[in-house]
Amino acid sequence: MTKPVILTGLRANNNLTLGNYFGALLPIVELAHSRASEYQVNLFVPDLHSFTTPIDHSQLQAQIMHNARLFAAAGLPLDSSDILLYRQSYVPAHSELTWILDCFSGVGEMGRMIEYKDKSAKLGDDRVSVGLFNYPVLMAADILLYGAEYIPVGEDQRQHLEFARDIAERMNAKFGELFTVPRPLKDQVEFFGKGQALRIMDLADPTRKMSKSDDTGKGVIFLTDDPAEAAKKIMSATTDDKASVNYDPKEQPGISNLLQILALLTGETLGDVTERYIGQERYGDFKKVVAEEVQKFLSGFQERLNAVSDDVIYAAFERSERAASEQAGQTLYKVQQAVGLRPEV
Ligand code: TRP
Repeated sequence: MTKPVILTGLRANNNLTLGNYFGALLPIVELAHSRASEYQVNLFVPDLHSFTTPIDHSQLQAQIMHNARLFAAAGLPLDSSDILLYRQSYVPAHSELTWILDCFSGVGEMGRMIEYKDKSAKLGDDRVSVGLFNYPVLMAADILLYGAEYIPVGEDQRQHLEFARDIAERMNAKFGELFTVPRPLKDQVEFFGKGQALRIMDLADPTRKMSKSDDTGKGVIFLTDDPAEAAKKIMSATTDDKASVNYDPKEQPGISNLLQILALLTGETLGDVTERYIGQERYGDFKKVVAEEVQKFLSGFQERLNAVSDDVIYAAFERSERAASEQAGQTLYKVQQAVGLRPEV
């Protein structure tokens, strides 16, 4: 770990949306391109996080591979030694460090995690697993094993990132300098820029974020949607009765969202796209433009996804898992020494 580390995990059993693609996947891939010489970029499939809530285990292997293919299809270089793409469970140090950190983490602080409270409220006591409860500790281990400083995550993961900082500081205070403490949130936001705040909204209810957990799927475009079906979703997107295209997220959230989607798909600025369509009265014509772009994008993406070879993915996994195990193993050993599980030399 001679270079500073940027690290993030993208969950395996998620059916990613267009919002995830532009809000998470693509920024990470772009980061890997632009920063890989100064930084080590760790991207991993957090497979151990996949069944904190019940899943269909017969699908997990396929989902892990699908996840890695998504990175590749989004343009992640797989042959750079500065970029690691690995499966969490293939680096056993993640599990081992989690156990140690578990013993220094409070039941109270875990119970205050918003994601835990939300998910457990939905599940009901008997179905809430201990894994769901202490999953922020595993996430802290994911980060601290590599001394990662910058961790691009969505807002819903910020509290977990704060916990990773807390536990690192706590362990350092008790045992001396064991861990690199991830940068404070303010620095992270500065580093990753405004792109992080970018949000694609639900097509049916444009006041809500486009989210994979939407039940009907009508307002959500998934990367695996049939392109023609996705175009139909754009055509039936909720708009307004002003009959004039304008970027005004408060008054015209639906139209503004379509302008944003169009800008992302064509790679233009929002300003340029807005200028081109501003004042257009026939929403149908405007929607058609967006629908065609969506269809074109999905066809292209799915073609690239199908073309990714498993051999290339497995080769990247093997190279990365070897390097990750070596780095993570060194951190784990230091911690094991600090807590008295290994002799000090
Ligand atoms: N918890 C993250 C999510 O649900 C995924 C994740 C696991 C992660 N470990 C991580 C993200 C470490 C960043 C760093 O999206």
